[in-house]
Amino acid sequence: MALRFTPLHPVFAAEVEGADLRVPLPPGEAAEIEAAMDRFAVLVFPDQRIDDDAQMAFGLNFGPMEAETAAVDTHKQRLADARMNDISNLDENGRLLEADDRRRMFNLGNRLWHSDSSFKATPAKYSLLHGRAVPPEGGETEFADMRAAWDALPAREQARLADLVCEHSLLFSRAMLGFTEFTEAERVKFAPVPQRLVRRHLGSGRRSLYLSSHIGRIRDWLTPEALALVRDLVEHATQPAFVYRHSWRPFDLVMWDNRCTMHRGRPFADREHRRDMRRVTLMDARPTLEQAA
Ligand code: OGA
Ligand code: MN
Repeated sequence: MALRFTPLHPVFAAEVEGADLRVPLPPGEAAEIEAAMDRFAVLVFPDQRIDDDAQMAFGLNFGPMEAETAAVDTHKQRLADARMNDISNLDENGRLLEADDRRRMFNLGNRLWHSDSSFKATPAKYSLLHGRAVPPEGGETEFADMRAAWDALPAREQARLADLVCEHSLLFSRAMLGFTEFTEAERVKFAPVPQRLVRRHLGSGRRSLYLSSHIGRIRDWLTPEALALVRDLVEHATQPAFVYRHSWRPFDLVMWDNRCTMHRGRPFADREHRRDMRRVTLMDARPTLEQAA
């Protein structure tokens, strides 16, 4: 069956009909999906009854998976494969996380606008998030189009930003919420990495802001000035005109391009309802400073 793409928003995001992610893709379909990703940046595949293995197999059509997740307390793993990101409110026994569980505090960082793994030297290409159990209310995920946000900046502002290099770390985004209880080993593992503020999106040739709440500094800038600028840019880039809000139905698979979008989770009654989401994350080819501007 041929794929059909229905736009979900005036500037980006589309729903895909005609795909079955339980089985290997027919010839040409991966390329068709990747071309749609270059255009829409966020694709929603409804009603995909897949398990972890099928989700990983589908992801591998588009690039290598990240070998490691960036979680805390990883000795308490719920999911069998350590490459699957557990984006749930559940503990290793499948029960709701306690209010003060360190993992719950750490996961609250997903409520801040970010791009996945921007704190890794080689950041993420696509993320694929699958909804196994979704709460009756709340828990939406919002996406913002960073290419549209770039296009809307005045030329003078674009020129001022074009060559800036930011430093990203999980320590910075968590500190924004007052979470600073990192072990020495975590501080080493999550040490800041440099990323361009403005990128060239490979598949579309368009330029894009590369923003994330993981940014804590801009190279050669005074930090308060840097963070004031980043805050202004995040506000600009997350205006309603650039934002698609996804309300989850069970078994939605949402795939997004971290190179040219940001996203954030919205609140829900996480001490009452289960939200079982699992994410496969694909690596970009190289650090952004090694990519063409
Ligand atoms: C993610 C993420 C937000 C959400 O999976 O990377 O940020 O709504 N999720 O769960
Ligand atoms: Mn995320």
